[in-house]
Amino acid sequence: MLKTISIEQLEKGMFVDSIAEQQGNMKITSRGRVTNDKQIDNLKKQGIMALVIDLSKQVSDAPPTETPSETTSKPPIEVSFEQEIAIAAALHNKGKAIQKRMFDSVTKNLPLDLAIPEEFTGNLVSSIDRNPNALLCMTKIREKDSYLLEHSLNVAILLANFASHVELSEDEIQELALSGFLHDIGKIKIPDSILHKPGKLTDQEMNIMRDHVFFGTKVLKELGLPESIIRTISEHHERLDGYGYPEGARGDEISLFGRMIAIVDTYDAITAERCYKAGIPSQKALQIILQDAPHKYDLELVKKFIKCIGVYPVGSLVRLNNEKIAMVVKQHPVHSTKPLVKIFYSVRGNHYLKPIELDLSKSAQIKIEKAVVASEYRLDFNKYFSESIAI
Ligand SMILES: [Fe+2]
Repeated sequence: MLKTISIEQLEKGMFVDSIAEQQGNMKITSRGRVTNDKQIDNLKKQGIMALVIDLSKQVSDAPPTETPSETTSKPPIEVSFEQEIAIAAALHNKGKAIQKRMFDSVTKNLPLDLAIPEEFTGNLVSSIDRNPNALLCMTKIREKDSYLLEHSLNVAILLANFASHVELSEDEIQELALSGFLHDIGKIKIPDSILHKPGKLTDQEMNIMRDHVFFGTKVLKELGLPESIIRTISEHHERLDGYGYPEGARGDEISLFGRMIAIVDTYDAITAERCYKAGIPSQKALQIILQDAPHKYDLELVKKFIKCIGVYPVGSLVRLNNEKIAMVVKQHPVHSTKPLVKIFYSVRGNHYLKPIELDLSKSAQIKIEKAVVASEYRLDFNKYFSESIAI
């Protein structure tokens, strides 16, 4: 049920469907649940006068529009994967566009408007709240030459999901999402010859590469980003044994959020397919990280992250024992090898199928044979995904 309210009546927990009235010509396409006061302030700054809210998506104890009062966050209403996936796909594209604009601003030493990534990561967390599987799926839809734009976006998604999995507060989830989204912004100051170098960097090149943490935190400090977020970003390459950078911090010197972002950053970086290297499959990547715990990564957090990602991560492809290829769309809470999948390709027939959902936990005969990647079957999965699934 839609209702138009003034900006003064907007409260945390409400779901903004669209903008009803605004001053100026700036185009705002906000859609999503309001999760913190900063988002309301940003909307006011952008000249929003009235909004259309969707009462059916409002969290249960959000205050009535007539009597604003203090609220606490409650679990939002979940929607189906099909309802969320098109929104998630659009958000993912928007996230890449914002990354590009931020890099351009930093390159040209132009001021960066932090309200934009803040609003974006607020919408990102709202999507995860409604259905985490949609955006998780998008982290698997990668383009080989967009690593720089996709990596920080994916870290934001994976980190917010990890934070939600370990039951951090709504504010902490928001903070981690923003930290992930901004964590590698300093990379734009690194020469392309080093940034995109295929293969191993020399010691000298590595020293230059390490400066991206310094450049990033410098830019963000100047913009007045909260100290706690700066700290998380500054720690994303620190390791518990003291062999990380830039400070070589050890053990307890590294914050909880710093330990979390280190795991997620590594996971996304090594699973990514690049122009010069194939991505490492998720299970192998998790094994590598586990082997590096507890000396580099926090073992308890790594175990939780493995549980959060699952044996067959959402968005990954699997071959079934009926000669079909399917995409994982939801983990099973108990049976980790029996997720909910969408079957979309026949190996025997060598053709695509209309996507059919199958709950492997309810199927006695059909099982996963193995995890696969699209290139093994010469599938243009990204094209198929945007035409047949994210619609
Ligand atoms: Fe980094």
